Amino acid sequence: MSLKEIKLEDLDVKSFIEQQSQAISSEVGDTMAINALSGGVDSSVVSMLAHRALGDRLKTYFIDNGIMREGEPQAVVSTMDKCGLPVELIDAQDEFFAALKGKTDPEEKRQAITDTFYRAVFGQLVRESGARFLLQGTNFTDVEETVAGIKRQHNILAQLGIDTETAYGYKVIEPIIQLRKPAVRAVGKALGLPESVFNRPPFPGPALVTRVIGEATRERIELVRKATVIVEQELALTEAFQYMAILHEDRVTGIREGKRDFGLQIEIRCWDSKDAVTGSPTRLPYEVLEKLAARITSEVFGVVSVTYSITTKPPSTIEAI
Ligand code: XMP
Repeated sequence: MSLKEIKLEDLDVKSFIEQQSQAISSEVGDTMAINALSGGVDSSVVSMLAHRALGDRLKTYFIDNGIMREGEPQAVVSTMDKCGLPVELIDAQDEFFAALKGKTDPEEKRQAITDTFYRAVFGQLVRESGARFLLQGTNFTDVEETVAGIKRQHNILAQLGIDTETAYGYKVIEPIIQLRKPAVRAVGKALGLPESVFNRPPFPGPALVTRVIGEATRERIELVRKATVIVEQELALTEAFQYMAILHEDRVTGIREGKRDFGLQIEIRCWDSKDAVTGSPTRLPYEVLEKLAARITSEVFGVVSVTYSITTKPPSTIEAI
């Protein structure tokens, strides 16, 4: 891989911000750029950098793809608004669910999201706005895992030989592609983002789809979304790197109201990690695990089994698909 990492210990945050702002400004010139904000650390940092560099020449969109967490689209727009960044919310739920229909293979699901995002949704926004550039928060770990063939991260294009100008009609600018998460957080802090943003646990671009094994229908996404609310409420104070609920495809026999219930299974994962390259399960107190199981089985209809993953990465990966 020709791309070189800038390690946290070698990063001069101030001059990185200056250099990247200048690079964005000179690349975009007098034209317009659009910006894909997901609300995660990476895209929030890129949004602030680009806003600083381009001002009114930047148009930032949050795509409501229907696969985000509870209340996330509105929360992201309002947080960034408080940081002085105007964001337009685009409802693209139907496009994403249509593309995911009938797909069960993990890489096909990821590909469907990539195509919908870059070709259908951003392709149209670019045509309508006359922009020639798309800014996005690809980081070094995303590239590394995709190039190594572990997972096709949704945002990797050029490193897979995709010429975005030919494929989608715009050029992609990736200002933090040489940084891993701890370095991205340091830049976010220096840019004045609130701690709730620069220290936010990572969340993947393909969102809750990475946590639904099998077909990601509206109903199954809604179910994992409900379980995610509970997991995030109960584990928020753990300081773990990332925590999640995963909906399994297989059902198991359970008992509900004294009767057989061939029900659903939720797996919980909670990770200790620095940069998502390796990870180990957090040693959660047993009482916390018991509370999670009790809440999920009573509050998420149809779930009869809750398990906790005790596997390290590798051989596991952080997300399920
Ligand atoms: P995995 O599951 O590959 O995840 O061990 C490593 C880290 O990356 C996040 N992740 C993604 N982030 N696009 C992203 O922006 C993706 O397609 C994607 N897949 C996984 C994951 O949440 C973890 O932090």
